[in-house]
Amino acid sequence: MTRHKNILLMMSGSIACAKATSLISEWVRRGHQVRVACTASAGQFVGRATLEGLSGHAVFDDTFEAGRVMDHIALAQWADLLVACPCSSNLINKFAHGIADDAVTTLWQGAWGRGIPQFIVPAMNTRMWHYPATRESVARLEQWGVHVLPTAEGDLACGEKGEGRMLEPADIIRMIESVLEYQPKALGGKVLITGGGTREPIDAVRYIGNTSTGRTSAQLANAMHERGMAVTWLGARSAIHPQKGPDIIEYETFDELQERLFAAVSDSHYDLVVQAAAVADFSPVGGEAAGKMSSGEALTLELAPNPKLINSIRSHSLNPAVRVIGFKLTAGASSKDARQAVARLFAGGGVDLVVHNDMREIDDGHHRFRLFSEAESPMLEGTLENVDELAARLLEWQVSHMMEETA
Ligand SMILES: Cc1cc2nc3c(=O)[nH]c(=O)nc-3n(C[C@H](O)[C@H](O)[C@H](O)COP(=O)(O)O)c2cc1C
Repeated sequence: MTRHKNILLMMSGSIACAKATSLISEWVRRGHQVRVACTASAGQFVGRATLEGLSGHAVFDDTFEAGRVMDHIALAQWADLLVACPCSSNLINKFAHGIADDAVTTLWQGAWGRGIPQFIVPAMNTRMWHYPATRESVARLEQWGVHVLPTAEGDLACGEKGEGRMLEPADIIRMIESVLEYQPKALGGKVLITGGGTREPIDAVRYIGNTSTGRTSAQLANAMHERGMAVTWLGARSAIHPQKGPDIIEYETFDELQERLFAAVSDSHYDLVVQAAAVADFSPVGGEAAGKMSSGEALTLELAPNPKLINSIRSHSLNPAVRVIGFKLTAGASSKDARQAVARLFAGGGVDLVVHNDMREIDDGHHRFRLFSEAESPMLEGTLENVDELAARLLEWQVSHMMEETA
């Protein structure tokens, strides 16, 4: 955040309150004004004196405090952004259901509709994070335009391990800045395109790969870059690379692709992700650790299934409204079977558009594709020899969605 902001920090009852106090000192150090509002439970975890000392202002925790009865409106009007951190499961569910029964929840609603960014930084036990009401409340708040930051995975204060742990303060500051500074400067915004095929090690020198060359993804990256999009290409080290223009990140194995894909979408605001990489469905167990195996003997490989990355892109994404485009390759499928394969990809809930092609059409040199927005009938058919037509159509589709959002 280059310009100094008025930040309203709203704290609720979590062990992470102590960690969140360092946000106040860091924001003040960077020249921002910080005011703190607390729920009654937050007061059990961190003292008023600490919060007042760090922010330089009295804490607002009682809607009816004499002399401050209009602060629930005045503070809401003063703020340039609201950050609920740590945000308890209770508070998330209250925000999503219109409850305004204390200083924090009343302020939250009092700021609504002013067009200022409202952030939630969740902190809770894994089971509370996965509680159905909490999941629904998070989805609801995101639909209303609230920025819900992800949680970290790891050891929780309760002794369990898993999702729900609050992000580190440095990550919170970075992610909030990234959202605030994001301007869709490029026509059609920012796109991440994955390409090429994964290589799953059997031992130190051998791997299971696939025939993907990465050519389509590289051409798509070039074409989208030329049309003015800000393009990042996340491609296999051995794949055909885009020419100068797109930012390039490389991967080799499934694990590297998974880690770099989720890191990219959680660190930066992408408008579009095109998942064109040919991702291994299975990986050999223990392949990385094995030295060079000796030859001349029968070998039995144990293969473990990999998760479907495409269905988790949105949940890892800093931009919860990111649009995801998947590729579906079939081998000699009838058009009915191909439509069913496309329908299965849509049913995973992770994609907005699917590009389908079939091995047979690649073999006979046509490399035809069909673009689906639902499994029924394709919205575009063409050949991938030159992906310009596909790039143009994807960009047109993306821009029309962005215009609808800003209308
Ligand atoms: C030691 C302790 C730690 C807690 N940590 C959390 C937490 O991290 N996240 C959470 O949602 N609730 C946590 N709770 C439970 C909340 O404090 C409790 O649900 C409270 O009613 C939340 O109120 P508030 O949302 O108004 O602050 C914790 C409770 C205790 C006693």
